[in-house]
Amino acid sequence: MTDTLTPVLTAHWDQERSWTLAAYEQTGGYAALRKAVGMPAADVLAAVKNSAIRGRGGAGFPAGMKWSFMSPPDGGPRYLVVNADESEPGTCKDIPLMMANPHALIEGAAISQYAMGSDHAFIYLRGEVVHVYRRLLRAVEEATAAGYLGENVLGSGITLRVTPHAGAGAYICGEETALLDSLEGRRGQPRLKPPFPGAAGLYARPTSVNNVETIASVPGILLHGADWFKAMGTEKSTGFGIFSLSGHVANPGQFEAPLGITMRELIELAGGMRKGHQLKFWTPGGSSTPIFTDAHLDIPLDFDSVAAAGSMLGTRALQVFDETVSVVRAVARWTEFYAHESCGKCTPCREGTWWLRQIMERLEHGQGQPGDIEKLDDICDNILGRSFCALGDAATSPITSAIKHFRSEFEAGMHTPAAQLFPPEKSVLFEVKEAAKA
Ligand SMILES: Cc1cc2nc3c(=O)[nH]c(=O)nc-3n(C[C@H](O)[C@H](O)[C@H](O)COP(=O)(O)O)c2cc1C
Ligand code: SF4
Repeated sequence: MTDTLTPVLTAHWDQERSWTLAAYEQTGGYAALRKAVGMPAADVLAAVKNSAIRGRGGAGFPAGMKWSFMSPPDGGPRYLVVNADESEPGTCKDIPLMMANPHALIEGAAISQYAMGSDHAFIYLRGEVVHVYRRLLRAVEEATAAGYLGENVLGSGITLRVTPHAGAGAYICGEETALLDSLEGRRGQPRLKPPFPGAAGLYARPTSVNNVETIASVPGILLHGADWFKAMGTEKSTGFGIFSLSGHVANPGQFEAPLGITMRELIELAGGMRKGHQLKFWTPGGSSTPIFTDAHLDIPLDFDSVAAAGSMLGTRALQVFDETVSVVRAVARWTEFYAHESCGKCTPCREGTWWLRQIMERLEHGQGQPGDIEKLDDICDNILGRSFCALGDAATSPITSAIKHFRSEFEAGMHTPAAQLFPPEKSVLFEVKEAAKA
């Protein structure tokens, strides 16, 4: 059994009322902010840069580098925008983090805005999670009353502000420029880049958009140093991350571990597959990342190794499916999601996801037509790399990877419904009560 867990962000989630300021302070909370405001902002930025932390929102861009790419201060406003939209199927790390430990994010947002020469951070949250929004509002209130936010933070003369904002609930608003449009009060659709947000972001001012986990990791880096952070993870994917295991493992949950841990180790930590079942396929980073099989269990889960193996680390949303699951049915559900969430701005994604959904639906029902598999591949080829934003590309990943690994199940979709080949009741994890069925 591996003992490689490195709980930092999750270390105190089981503590009594872990989300309160008192609980956070008891475990050393806000010591990093105290240290940061006593340092020149350039040194705070250097510490984050030296840690080589890569963004935890999916793409893995180095955070310190992103901040240093922002246009230089010109006396006008500059912003940090925390991306807390978390709407990718399978992704479920930021919401529990904000529920259990909101002050880690707020402290990180305060330090990070200081490092980038800003005095205002927004936290853009998906609209459905009202309970998280309330928790953030309360945490900001507590931090402001204690002098960690507001004017003259901890007597330093520095102003730092955090404003939580609830969106209306749209996956596309997690794309950083659609998020900015939504935050400005417009319909959330991606912007043409360049200009990048670092030059013209929120209200056309220099802005850095960063994931919740990226920003919440900053206090630890500042307090313990870049070398402490780099001692975990791999050379090019430093530090720790929250790996979210869901699906057919015995004990699903959040496992905070160094980047580079393998899926085999994580499944072991989760108590193995559910009793009597075997792994069939899994996603390394949510539904947007090409699926893997049991042949990929020993790939180090770091940005470069997962990419070299043909997928993406994404948000470390490890969805685990056993032999009872129809790949065609799972992919059809994800495809419905992408077709529904396509914002409609560009033709390949708007039209393509609609066609993909039609074909996946008939394959799921055993009504596939000759040439459907080739048509799926062809449509995916016309979406991938030709769409305005990464949502279009994401819609193709599950389909092309599933055809590659499980082509025979797609072929079976020409004559046999997925529900007949893989009865859904064999996959359920929770007993379905008769009353709920009715
Ligand atoms: C359709 C779509 C949805 C996204 N959703 C999120 C999200 O919910 N949270 C997030 O941090 N990044 C999301 N991203 C990635 C962001 O555009 C951006 O890369 C990220 O917020 C940068 O933060 P990081 O550098 O700290 O990783 C999404 C991208 C796309 C294309
Ligand atoms: S790829 Fe899809 S989500 Fe992105 S801009 Fe085009 S239509 Fe909108």
